[in-house]
Formats: sequence, C-alpha cells, structure tokens
Amino acid sequence: MTTAQVRQPKRLADYQAPIFSITHTDLVFELDATATRVTATLTFKRQQPGRLLLEGQQLKLERVRLNDRVLTAAEFAQTAESLEIFAPGDTGVLEIVTLLNPEQNTALEGLYLAEGVYCTQCEAEGFRRITYYPDRPDVLAVFTTTIIANRNELPFLLSNGNKVRESRLPDGRTEVVWHDPYPKPSYLFALVAGDFDHLHDTYVTSTGREVLLEFFVQKGALARSHFAMAALKRAMRWDEQRFGLAYDLDRYMVVAVDFFNMGAMENKGLNVFNSKFVLADDTSATDTDYFNIESIIGHEYFHNWTGNRVTCRDWFQLSLKEGLTVFRDQEFSADMGSPTLNRIDAVKVIRTAQFAEDASPMAHPIRPEQVLEMNNFYTVTVYDKGAEVIRMLQTLLGKAGFNAGLACYLQRHDGQAVTCDDFVQAMQDATGYDLQAFRRWYSQSGTPELSVKEQFDAATGKLTLTLAQQTPATADQQEKLPLVIPVKIELLFHDGSAAQQHLLILDSSVQQFQFDNLPQAPLVVWLEDFSAPVKLSTDYDVEQLLAIASRASNGFARWDAMQQFWHKIIKDAVQQSALPVLPEALLTAFRQWLITPLADLALTAELLTLPDFDTLAAHYAPIPVDALLNILQETTQLLSKALLPELLGCYQQLTTPAYHYSEADVGLRALKNRCLHYLAFTAEGAKRVTAHYQAANNMTDILAALHAAQHANIAQAGELMADFAKRNEANVHVMDKYFNVVAANPRDSVFDALEKLTAHPVFSWKNPNRVRAVYGAFSQRNAPQFHRKDGKGYALLAEVVTKVDAINPQLAARLITPLLSWQRYDDGRQQQLIMLLRELASLPMLSDDLYEKVHKSLP
Ligand code: PHE
Ligand code: ZN
Repeated sequence: MTTAQVRQPKRLADYQAPIFSITHTDLVFELDATATRVTATLTFKRQQPGRLLLEGQQLKLERVRLNDRVLTAAEFAQTAESLEIFAPGDTGVLEIVTLLNPEQNTALEGLYLAEGVYCTQCEAEGFRRITYYPDRPDVLAVFTTTIIANRNELPFLLSNGNKVRESRLPDGRTEVVWHDPYPKPSYLFALVAGDFDHLHDTYVTSTGREVLLEFFVQKGALARSHFAMAALKRAMRWDEQRFGLAYDLDRYMVVAVDFFNMGAMENKGLNVFNSKFVLADDTSATDTDYFNIESIIGHEYFHNWTGNRVTCRDWFQLSLKEGLTVFRDQEFSADMGSPTLNRIDAVKVIRTAQFAEDASPMAHPIRPEQVLEMNNFYTVTVYDKGAEVIRMLQTLLGKAGFNAGLACYLQRHDGQAVTCDDFVQAMQDATGYDLQAFRRWYSQSGTPELSVKEQFDAATGKLTLTLAQQTPATADQQEKLPLVIPVKIELLFHDGSAAQQHLLILDSSVQQFQFDNLPQAPLVVWLEDFSAPVKLSTDYDVEQLLAIASRASNGFARWDAMQQFWHKIIKDAVQQSALPVLPEALLTAFRQWLITPLADLALTAELLTLPDFDTLAAHYAPIPVDALLNILQETTQLLSKALLPELLGCYQQLTTPAYHYSEADVGLRALKNRCLHYLAFTAEGAKRVTAHYQAANNMTDILAALHAAQHANIAQAGELMADFAKRNEANVHVMDKYFNVVAANPRDSVFDALEKLTAHPVFSWKNPNRVRAVYGAFSQRNAPQFHRKDGKGYALLAEVVTKVDAINPQLAARLITPLLSWQRYDDGRQQQLIMLLRELASLPMLSDDLYEKVHKSLP
C-alpha cells in the first residue's frame, strides 16, 4: 500500500515477454498459524537479456540461495514488492525461504487460515504473497508441492495434481508430496489443509481414464455435497459430448470454504469453492442455489481446458478464459434446463450490471488496456459481455464452425499462454470466415445503440429495413467506431403465413436490408435471443409489443417484448409525471397467462414480471430515481388490484408437490410465487403470505413469502422473519438469506435493522459472504433506501467500505461499485456521492483496489 503519490497503472501496450522462464517450481510448506515457512526451489532459464526480478508482497525473506550458495545481502536487492538477483547467470536453481502469517491474512489472497482451514487463493496476483516469483500467467512451470503439518490437526493436506508420497517425519509431523505434471502459471497453484467431511466417487472419461472425484466440505455437511458431485459428473460428460474435451488427471478435487472472496477458483485439479456454491439440500437451498451450484461447478470444471490447458498471456487477456468459460457454462446450463430461461437470466445481467458498468467511470473493453489493481477487472464486462462476444462468434460461424474453431484453438495452443487475438485467429483459420472487423469488440468499450426503420411496399411485397448503430463515448474512450453486429430477426405475419427468421449482419454505421415477396407487412421481432449486447429501440406501439409477446415463436422474444412494453409505458409515465396507464390489452394478456399459463410456467412467470429498477435506469440520464421507484411500486399495486381473481385462481390452481429440483417444479414455484408477490398487496395479502410461509416445504417458497411480506409491509412480516431466523441459526448460508431479506427492507427501519445484524453472532466483518449478505444486498436490492434523497444510504455504504478496506480491499472495492456512478443521478444525489468519494480518496491507507476506483470516479 502506498499513499499520497499518484499510482501508475500497467498497460497492455507495454507487454514484454518474460526474461526468465521457470521450468520447475518446488515448494515446501511447513504450516503454522502465524509463521508458515515456505521454501521455494525454482529452476530458471534465461529467455532474453535482462534482470532477474521477482514479485513479492508482505513476505518476510529468510534466505536466498543460488545454486547451493547462500547469497549475501550484496548479491540481491529487496523492495516492498520485489526481489532482484544480481548475477543469476543463464540457468540455475534459486532457493528462496519466506515466512508468512496466514492467521493475520484477512485479505484472503495468498495463504490464509480461516476457521481452522489453510487455504490459498492465487489468482490474479496472490502467489507473490507466498514466495518471490515471476508472478505472471505466461511463466509456466511444473509444480511439486510438499506440505508438512500435524496430521491430528490437519488430516487432509492437498495440492494440485497427483499425490506422490506421504510419510511420517521423525518429529511426528506428516509430509505429503504432490506433483502436477502439467506446466502451469502460479495463479493456478493451490494448497488446502484442514479437517473435512470427504465425499468421493469415480468417473470414467470418454478416453477411458478412471478419475477419482473428491469433495472436501465442512464437518457435518457431507449430505449437502451430493448435488454438487452429481453436477460435476454431468459437466464432465457434457464437455465430452459437446466439445470432445475429456479430463486429463486421475484426480479432481473440490474444497468448499466459507471464507472466499469470489464464487470459486479453477486451480488445476484442486478447485476451491465458496461453500455457498457447493452445499445444498432440499431444506436449505433455493431453486436458484441449485441452479448456481450446477453452473459454477460446470464453470470451474470447463476452465480445465479453457483457462488451464490454454491460459492467458497477461491479465489484460482475462476474457480469453473468462468470457469463453462463462459462455461454456451458459451453454451447459441451457442444455441441463431451459434454454429460454437461461437466456433471459443472462440478458438481465447484461442489461442491469453490464450496461451500468459501461455508463460508469470504470467502463472498459472486454480486453482492458490499463489496470492498476487486477482484482478490479473481474467484472461483468470481462465475464458476461465477454461471453456475449463469444456467443456472437458462434452466431456468425454457426455451431459447427464454432466447434471447429475451438478445437483448432485448443490444439494449436495447448500448454501455452496466449491472447484474445490468438483465439479469434483460430476461429478464423478453422472456418475461413474473415473476423478482422469483428475484433473491434475486444478493444472498444461501451454499449452500442441500434435504431431501426421499417418500410414496406404493399404493391411489391418488399420490406426495407434500415439499421443504424452508434456507440456513445465512455469514461475510458471518446472515439467509437462501427462494430460487426449480428442481428437476428423474425418476421411475423397476421395472415397466418409462416414466420421467417433471418440473420442480418450490420457492419457499418447505417445499412439497409431488403426482403422480397412478403405476403403482407410483417411485425418484426428485433434482436431475437439478444443476438448482440446492444440497446435497440423501436417505435412499436404497445399493441404491437403485446402482439409479439403473445405470438413470437421464441420464448425469449416474447419476454423481451414485455420488457420493451414496460420500458415504453414507464418512460411515458415518467415524462408526464404520472402513473402509467395500463392498457386493457395488457390486462387481457396478463389474465390470459394467469388463466391458461404457457406450458413453460417459468416463462409465464417472467412474462408477468416488471423489469427491475436497474434495468429501467439504464435508459435514463439522469436517472429519475424517485419517479421510477414510485412507478414500480404503484404499478405492482395496480396490477394486483386489477387482476385479483385471476391471480388468486392461478395461485390456488398450482399445488405444490413434494420438493424436487426439476425444470417443471422450478417453473411451478416461480409462477406461484410471482402470484404471491402481487397478492401480498391485496386485502387478504397478509393472511395469504402467512399461510404460504407456514405451508412451505422448501426454501424457495419460504423466501418468497418473506420477501413478499416485507415488500408489501404486512403486519406479520417481523414475526415471520424472527421465526425464520430462529429456526435457521445453525446454517450460515440460510442466515445469509435472512440477512438479505432484512437488508432489502424498503422502509426507514432498515438502518436500525442493519445495525442489529452486525451484532448477530453469525455476522463477521472478516467473512465476505456475511458482509455481502448484509451490505451488498442493501446497496443492490434496496433501491428505495440506498438511493434516499438525504444520502443516508450512500453514507452507510461509504462507512462500510472504509471499514472493510482495512480488512479485505478486494471486497471493499466490489462493495463500492454503486457509489461510483454519481454522474447518473440528479444534482442532490451527485453532491452527496462526490462528497463521500472525496472523503474516501483522502483516507490515509487507501488500498490500490479502492484508489483506482475512487480516483477514476472523482470529477
Ligand atoms: N477465476 C475464477 C473464476 O472465474 C474467479 C476468481 C478470480 C476467483 C480471482 C478468485 C480470484 O472461476
Ligand atoms: Zn472463470
């Protein structure tokens, strides 16, 4: 941590190949809570002229030895962040001994000890907190890891690869040796030591390899790890079937810990997971939990090829592995469940968080060009927009072309650290499709805006579509150029003629597309499946949008038409400072869906759901916060009044079966709970919500009742919440859900409630899951209180960010996000936010993580 001076980011343009490679990395860990000794033996080889400079952070250096000779202080130089060896020669062996304090490591990067478990997290630049090392992803070495510890306290001693030896030392400690035959960058190194419940199984790959699958979970949680194990096997099979990719080691381990900054980590052969994304059973997990577990288990497994076997040259290329792997996990989830619902969920993420990021001071392309703190770039842009870019490639090349491109990429670059350009080049070479212009998606930030015009000549049946694209300037980049944008459309005809689907490829600012011999003027469904991550506006009237919502052949298009419908209605209401007028046609459509739901109940539930505050907000500058919140609240109430009998009918008709996580039952619960959400506002609401809570046989329904109770402010809300908290004290993950509900309370009382939560025995400032469950939820799911006019919500978050920065900078920097975009709000809110950001900027010990965000944001 440095202070006062201006801190300099690293630039992609300055990339230089490593001066030394490391061929073998031998690590010996003597575990101790406050003084773990790490002996690193590095076999190095010069690649080009230059210095041998190693990165290190918060390390205590005990000794350096070069080729069996201990170096004197004059033979190396140390700074707070580096170690230079003056005369290393061209090849040699360097032995470095460092001392670490895992117990004091609350940043949860490097080696840390939490709840009795030693655990490492090395991506992106955490390995330098373990030993001095060329801590960059393009230095790939074969790792051998020895762990020495007291077996009674730490029965499981794990690292990457294969276990080669285990022995008892004379002093009573145990020594376990692991060897990973695949060369890897330091960020994929992992070590875990602790006492766990252990679930194991085997899997035979398509290549005939028998793989031992092991889950290590907290004691007592064994029964909650079966679903994740089954999901892992599904993921392994799926990657073989869809991409021909099989696992490459004899052992695959997953460890679940409650102290973790992110969702999970793909360390070679030894994934470390946030336990929230492993543990589940029918009494404690929601449908969403089950979904997330399967998808993240898939994600980390898929990294074994897209990330580990072929990795990133430098961190600017992060989307090379993350965008691609998110795309792969999305495809997996779509195949395991409903493609429509999966697409809807992915698009919601883009329209809420990613569009907001483009509109923020942190705007960046999916391949950023400058970075101060790499941890700040694990973003929805790199991950989710990155996945959309991969999806566009698949749309342009077709599934077969895309698969061929991926095969070419993996084969050509197996064992290498490469760039996004290398990936696109492989796609191009395998298919012959010219992707030169497409590459701009990697370097240009911002959300393109498409406008469309339709002209139909009834005499000739000719349709002319005119598309124009324009990308507004972003904080990081003023000039924007046209992109290659695949636009899927569907033409619908009133006369019953078969609908037509087309793919338009827009690659200049304005372009026309013509269609001949149409039977009549079509209704055009634009941007089907959200074929590109853009904003698209049409001038359709509400009747046309409702027609698409009822008739489009594609479930996603139907949902999207409803989103556009609401956007339009609400925009008009905001302009007129009035409440929206709900057209009769809307009520008719809603009644119809409630009386005769579509076969896909989950889709029906989505059709009946208003866009949330963040989705709507993306379309305004400045955001009319109060008007939007008021309209959303009032509209919900108008709908519940107008549709009471149908809501009730639908609610009662959907009888809850015994809990089972299946596509059909998930849909049933989604629709029933959507009805409850509206019914909570009606006269009998309190009675119904209470009955729903009491009758619920699963966590999804229980939480729906609690949220509905809170949202509609029913008298029993407090009682239900207290009952829930009491029953679930023993399960931290369920308590997190309780914290979520408390934090989402849209009334003034939330501030006292939050204060009380931090005194709850389960709460800890050191645990990212707890802090997020309380304050992440408050800032992201409680727009009315977070965006209060008087700034009280903002001030609370700033206070929390300040406190957390001293404990865990990465967490602090994630929490601060909603405070950065002051420019998007009205003058009053702008002033509150700027004042708080200035205060943060003046903190004496500001982390690099916060420094980068706060300084980018300040005017
Ligand atoms: N690489 C991890 C993933 O996407 C995310 C991660 C990044 C985890 C940094 C920890 C630290 O699966
Ligand atoms: Zn990932």
